[in-house]
Amino acid sequence: MSVLNGKNILLGVTGGIAAYKAAFLVRLLVKKGANVKVVMTASAKEFVTPLTLSTLSKNEVFSSFTNEENENAQWNNHVELALWADLFLIAPATANTLSKMANGTSDNLLLACYLSAKCPVYYAPAMDLDMYKHPTTAEAFEKLNSFGNIQIPAAFGELASGLVGQGRMAEPDEIVCFLENDILKKLPLRGKKFLITAGPTYEALDPVRFIGNHSSGKMGYAIAEAAAQLGAEVVLISGPTALKLENDFVKMIRVTSAEEMYRAAHEYFDKSDVAILSAAVADYRPLEVASEKIKKKEKDLTLQLTKTKDILASLGGIKKNQFLVGFALETENEEENAKLKLKKKNLDLIVLNSLRDKGAGFQTDTNKITLIGKDNKTIPFPVKPKKEVAKDILEYIIEQTNA
Ligand code: CTP
Repeated sequence: MSVLNGKNILLGVTGGIAAYKAAFLVRLLVKKGANVKVVMTASAKEFVTPLTLSTLSKNEVFSSFTNEENENAQWNNHVELALWADLFLIAPATANTLSKMANGTSDNLLLACYLSAKCPVYYAPAMDLDMYKHPTTAEAFEKLNSFGNIQIPAAFGELASGLVGQGRMAEPDEIVCFLENDILKKLPLRGKKFLITAGPTYEALDPVRFIGNHSSGKMGYAIAEAAAQLGAEVVLISGPTALKLENDFVKMIRVTSAEEMYRAAHEYFDKSDVAILSAAVADYRPLEVASEKIKKKEKDLTLQLTKTKDILASLGGIKKNQFLVGFALETENEEENAKLKLKKKNLDLIVLNSLRDKGAGFQTDTNKITLIGKDNKTIPFPVKPKKEVAKDILEYIIEQTNA
């Protein structure tokens, strides 16, 4: 899966012959799973039609502050468009547009979007070789790059004028590759190895029965997906769940019992930088597992249970430089109990859920957490979707591990 998958990309098209390549660019970006909206200058429309780009992007194409054809038209809000974007790509970027961008001119919708954008801005210059070499163009590049914009270098080759030199817009597949590499390179968890446990464990009684719990695994899976999206190499050790992973960058190890989870966690812990144990591991398992199905005979049946190994505590006991995160699901004296667990299990962070909070706990799509760090500082969060909660937890870890 591409890092562009799910990203909102605003493509700015300006008026140069390379504008015809914008159609291929839109198609490639859509194929990568990006949501694409196009904003184009009036002169770009002479090279490629809005109809082509709206058909390929499956979105309306914007080019002026109002929609002239429609009397009741509303104002095309450049701020909204710019804030919608996770990434603004201007390709082709003509000398005229680049010079205006460098000087803060805002005489069309594309430039107003540029001035309003808070996301990374990439630009792919396209112009004839002498324009490319002109000192004012060099000055514009320097200025734009100093503002934090990212230049996708023009290629060397035959230009529309028939001259040969630098100035040709990079090919659409090169632009897409450039974007992917640049995003990957800057991901905050790039190169970090994560070990995550999730879901319940099932402790067998006999060949057909087990003791389990209602954990859905949603929280752990959300953390695994979010960590992978931020560039981490993730191993997810999952108990039995009905969930599917959306991200193919996560290595999935399926286990059933607490003992299997214990062994898998120990196999990967040594090489991990961060371990997040969100699984609802059974605290007890049947002392004996019947080899045949237990028949109903007596009125009462007594099961003898024995403690499982505490995976989190065992990792806390052997940890070197790993950042170790545990979960605590409490019903009373929440903070106090969580702080005790943090210390006892030698953790760097504990994520506290209180069963008394609405929207927290098992099976739900939301969670309400409080983070408690080694410094005993508590950070409470409101109820949020589990995907957002995952980001909050990872943000804390990024802050702490880069400190
Ligand atoms: N955990 C674990 N292995 C176990 C039990 C728990 O790794 N055998 C981990 C969970 O994944 C979670 C944390 O320990 O991150 C907290 O589990 P919890 O059951 O709340 O705490 P316990 O230490 O088991 O204490 P108690 O049940 O008495 O509250």
